[in-house]
Amino acid sequence: MVKIGLLGLGTIGRGIVEIINERREYLKAATGVDLRIKTALVRDINKKRDVDLSDIILTDNFEDILGNEEIDILVEVTGDLESAYDYITRGLKAGKHIVTANKAVVSKYFEEISQLAAEKDLAFLYEASVGGGIPVLKPLREQLALNRIDQVQGILNGTCNYILTRMVNENKEYDEVLKIAQRLGYAEADPTADVKGHDTLRKLRILASLALQGKIQEEDIILYGISNISKLDVENIKKMDSTIKLIAEAKRVYNGFTAIVQPTIVKNNNYFANVNMAFNSISFTGNFVGELKFYGAGAGKDPTANAVLSDCLDIALNSYRKGNPLGKESLVNLNSELMGRYYLRISKASRDILERLEDMTKELLTDEQVIKNKKEGFDLAIITKLVKLSSLNDLIANLGLEKDQYFLAKIME
Ligand code: NAP
Ligand code: HSE
Repeated sequence: MVKIGLLGLGTIGRGIVEIINERREYLKAATGVDLRIKTALVRDINKKRDVDLSDIILTDNFEDILGNEEIDILVEVTGDLESAYDYITRGLKAGKHIVTANKAVVSKYFEEISQLAAEKDLAFLYEASVGGGIPVLKPLREQLALNRIDQVQGILNGTCNYILTRMVNENKEYDEVLKIAQRLGYAEADPTADVKGHDTLRKLRILASLALQGKIQEEDIILYGISNISKLDVENIKKMDSTIKLIAEAKRVYNGFTAIVQPTIVKNNNYFANVNMAFNSISFTGNFVGELKFYGAGAGKDPTANAVLSDCLDIALNSYRKGNPLGKESLVNLNSELMGRYYLRISKASRDILERLEDMTKELLTDEQVIKNKKEGFDLAIITKLVKLSSLNDLIANLGLEKDQYFLAKIME
């Protein structure tokens, strides 16, 4: 029997208990592995929980799990950052394997925890931290042995993709759809992590570090979220026979890399345009295997719990890859070289702003009559020429706009 100490019994923790309750006997017959949750850690042991917890001891004291020598695997699904770090590192030092769905903790402490797990010859697995239910990290690790990976790209946040899909397809309001995504259990405890792009950035940090085998940290990634998107942007984008997705991308370029998370306008016939609702898709490109694409549920209780338990099963079957998966390539950050054509909408704009953008403007989307009638206070939307993102950013910074006054999206070529 393989015994689990479950840290957290919220959306994902509950899903894990439900799958084990339903599949334990089948799993035992099919694989010989008997997975059992021995103890579960929560903040409030008196909270009513809508799940069958027979045979599981509830505690609010981590020491009860750490000190229990019967427990082989700690499954961390608390969503907390610093206490999760404490649980994981102390767990490894106490000889326990670790499985987590917590991208915040993996992203912040990736090198340190990977090193510690390798030194202790224990598993540190985090498949559920990227792409929810999609098995992508395991195939990535496998392909790394043979390939040099040059690019990872994807839609990595279920909440953002759900919001954007429903705004575009059903003309829904941003706030309304965000609330539904929260109710469905897709969003983080603090949903600003989703809509401002931090969750996607953390997932890209994990994917990019593994794929490019260099230290690519959160601060190495340029970030734009979706929280400023308006109905006007959606209307403009639809007129371009396109839709909008939050896309994360890291690429090897010369002796370095670029890494960015940005709203991206994609033609309706593009592959990403058909990744909708809370689904995610991730692709990576190896020099021998070529491009591999992965698609599936990017968030939600059951798919994520399934990914967590797949990691547990790999540990129980001793079929996981051993050693530290992170490489030591020294890669220069070349984000200053990023270029593209961009959609830019500015609220409460003026003719002065329009003139200052003139050199970069390829196409004006705002009705010229509106500009003629109003000297200022109108919504301005343009498509830029092919420009350096850094130059466009400098110009935007010089316009003295408020942070929520504009929306910028790359146009995918
Ligand atoms: P959640 O619903 O907020 O549940 C968190 C659980 O952890 C609760 O049971 C809470 O206890 C417990 N907890 C929180 N802080 C704790 C602490 N410091 N010590 C002990 N227990 C603590 O979160 P969730 O949606 O299940 O997400 C869990 C993790 O999975 C997060 O890292 C999230 O990013 C990741 N994830 C989520 C999804 C998704 O679709 N939701 C998908 C992939 C990955 P109480 O119940 O007593 O409050
Ligand atoms: N909040 C995350 C999302 C959960 O919406 O993608 C899955 O990581």
